[in-house]
Amino acid sequence: MRILITAGPTREYLDDVRYLSNASSGLMGYAIAESALARGHDVVLVSGPVSITPPAGCEVHHVETTDEMFAACESLFPNCDGVIGTAAVCDYKIKNRINGKIGKTGSALTIELVETIDVLAELGKQKGHRWVVGFAFESQDAHFNAVGKLYRKNCDAIVLNRPTAIGSDQNEIELIDQSENVALHISGSKLDVAQQLIAWIDTHLG
Ligand code: CTP
Repeated sequence: MRILITAGPTREYLDDVRYLSNASSGLMGYAIAESALARGHDVVLVSGPVSITPPAGCEVHHVETTDEMFAACESLFPNCDGVIGTAAVCDYKIKNRINGKIGKTGSALTIELVETIDVLAELGKQKGHRWVVGFAFESQDAHFNAVGKLYRKNCDAIVLNRPTAIGSDQNEIELIDQSENVALHISGSKLDVAQQLIAWIDTHLG
């Protein structure tokens, strides 16, 4: 298969030098890319800014903002068999980005944020015969919220993970399928988790 993977954080700029982002390392997405390559798949990686190196052999597209991630994915998805959305996409962007650098004025600064496009949900709308696997990052009502995202984003499966995954090379995930059952419960290194996830996708979606 030819698999599209989103990974890492996105950035939303306030001005030319400052941005909103998050602490995603990209490790989970890059481990999935490595595991997919090892099983003989072609991998197209759309990555936000991270400090790790993509595995050799995948086609890499570097992006910064959510709009750039969406534009890349929208053009690449039609030539792929499925997408795995591991990226920690910024949910908000600055309504009016300032050109240059915002200077101090001596008083408080109020910034208006608007929602970004939901990359995975848009790909879900366009998927046709392709498959879509999302990640749901949850701290409470985890299973309920993950199932909600499975439907809202038109996913074939959703991988539930928790805030303890941030900054760690370990992860504990549950893969929820369209019958809302936990089809896999894996804990281990992100590479172990990635290998089992790709094996499940091969068997059930490939
Ligand atoms: N996602 C995306 N584009 C966004 C937001 C999320 O593609 N603008 C994708 C993520 O890559 C992940 C899935 O949607 O595969 C769920 O992301 P998550 O952060 O758990 O949920 P949100 O949709 O952002 O909702 P909330 O923050 O309210 O939990």
